[in-house]
Amino acid sequence: MSTENHEHNHMNELQISDADFNRMVKFVHDNYGIDLHAKRQLIQSRLGTVIKRKGYQSFREYVDFLLADGSGDDINELLNKLKTNYTYFQRETESFDYFVDTILPDVTAKHTGDKTLSIWSAACSSGEEPYNVTMYMMDYFGPHWKEWDARMLATDLSVDVLGKAQRGVYQLPDNMPEKWKRSYFTPSGDRHQISQEVKNNVIFRQFNLMDPIRFKRKFDIIFCRNVMIYFDQPTKTALINRMYDATVPGGYLIISLSENLPPNTKWKRCTSAIFKK
Ligand SMILES: C[S@@+](CC[C@H](N)C(=O)[O-])C[C@H]1O[C@@H](n2cnc3c(N)ncnc32)[C@H](O)[C@@H]1O
Repeated sequence: MSTENHEHNHMNELQISDADFNRMVKFVHDNYGIDLHAKRQLIQSRLGTVIKRKGYQSFREYVDFLLADGSGDDINELLNKLKTNYTYFQRETESFDYFVDTILPDVTAKHTGDKTLSIWSAACSSGEEPYNVTMYMMDYFGPHWKEWDARMLATDLSVDVLGKAQRGVYQLPDNMPEKWKRSYFTPSGDRHQISQEVKNNVIFRQFNLMDPIRFKRKFDIIFCRNVMIYFDQPTKTALINRMYDATVPGGYLIISLSENLPPNTKWKRCTSAIFKK
């Protein structure tokens, strides 16, 4: 059976050939570090409908386009469909508790002179994480907040999610403290708009975690949560080594409770998902 026939015959669902699947997996892995090799069913079912809606006749046409399109626009759609952008406020509060109880006292003690902190949310998706970190810091510093420059860098590969982050309008979860709802948001219909003060503390930029890390300053704290799950081991190892070099001595790396660092890392574990240089 030719690839063409095969692509059209299964209950009207577009089929992806081995060759096209392999081209796509290699492209996404080489450019974005994301490992899709086990996601064939998901790609076929979730992406097939999008491809048809966008007027492509086959996966082959779509993959040709994806590989030729340097803008990365189509990769956004792919990531959206595979639900790799999933995030929410108050995610893993035990890590935020450690952040407030241990990391902030340690790091601020080193910066009493310049009163400047350097924090990076390295796969910030639609902004919940860096906004949440900012709220914890505003609470921690209280009346001294304005004396500190704790502006955060927040980056993601996807421009779609960065747009959402910049709009800053959210459906809040039930466990968002009432006090924070009132202080850090204004109601907007059935949703909530992040306050200007919180927003001003976060600088959003597009950044591919496969690229060399060349930001102006080294970081005191890096949040890199729920993105390495999409990467294979060598990609993960290379990334956390680059992050190690991009961190000040004594700086912290915060990953997700469902993740682990590869073995033989230079990072020293503090608690479940938190590491120190
Ligand atoms: C599941 S979200 C994690 C959001 C947040 N850190 C959290 O834990 O809730 C993963 C994010 O990683 C981003 N991402 C995937 N590959 C990336 C890459 N190579 N460079 C930068 N961001 C990437 C996706 O666009 C997505 O927004």
